[in-house]
Amino acid sequence: MGFVKYIKEEMRIIKERDPAIRTSFEVFLYPSFKAILRYRFANKLYRKKLYFFARWISQRTARKTGIEIHPGATIGKGLFIDHGIGVVIGETAIIGDNVTLYQGVTLGGTGKEKGKRHPTIGNNVMISAGAKVLGSFTIGENSKIGAGSVVLSEVPSNSTVVGVPGRIVKRDNIKIPREDMDQIHLPDPYLNDVTNLKKENEYLRGEIKRICNRFDEIQSTCDKLDELDIILAKLENKNNNQTSSK
Ligand SMILES: CC(C)(COP(=O)(O)OP(=O)(O)OC[C@H]1O[C@@H](n2cnc3c(N)ncnc32)[C@H](O)[C@@H]1OP(=O)(O)O)[C@@H](O)C(=O)NCCC(=O)NCCS
Repeated sequence: MGFVKYIKEEMRIIKERDPAIRTSFEVFLYPSFKAILRYRFANKLYRKKLYFFARWISQRTARKTGIEIHPGATIGKGLFIDHGIGVVIGETAIIGDNVTLYQGVTLGGTGKEKGKRHPTIGNNVMISAGAKVLGSFTIGENSKIGAGSVVLSEVPSNSTVVGVPGRIVKRDNIKIPREDMDQIHLPDPYLNDVTNLKKENEYLRGEIKRICNRFDEIQSTCDKLDELDIILAKLENKNNNQTSSK
């Protein structure tokens, strides 16, 4: 594709996907435009094994746009990176056609894999702001990844994934019933421990009170026995005195 045709195509893509654009020339201000153009050049150098120069362009672009695309990544037509800052695309990532990425997206590796370490993104996928897609699996065509999600496994086509770790909440536009999707009422282990300790404390207090009451009962029985002993001793004395006076 010639340069003019390429720019016209970029203008069409950005106008189509960003309602904030007013004039075609604003395209030149978009970090997405700059980063993808430079990636295409860096990728050519990379494929010619000019790794240093390819990385040099990639790193310079990252400093200027906040978008770091490894020159070894494979990117199809019509990629749009909105806002751009904080986007990282790893070396073995493969991106299909008409993909949209928002700021803060990482297409990265988990650090556990070798060789193909980064995800493959199908055509027409949208990955929302701050989402992290980590590992060498595929995100199926037309899928959406929700803002702030962390996706760690394969996503089928036409799905919506949200949350950490990412779970499918919609497929073919039909909601998937959730079993354990409550991300607001999370269990609080500290509160649980405190509640258990409170219960245990109440039980122990009750036991101590019960023992004290029992002790008081025994004490009063002993006191009564002592009194009885005294009375008996007095009676015995009286009895002895009466016998001796007779
Ligand atoms: C995921 C997203 C694309 C919506 O996709 P969708 O297929 O239309 O899905 P819905 O809006 O019907 O949401 C489905 C469920 O996921 C939940 N959900 C949506 N986005 C979520 C998110 N980012 N995190 C957690 N839950 C989310 C919804 O609350 C809904 O839950 P419910 O079934 O209990 O009502 C959208 O919510 C999103 O994250 N957009 C961000 C776009 C973006 O990055 N913009 C930045 C511009 S600067």
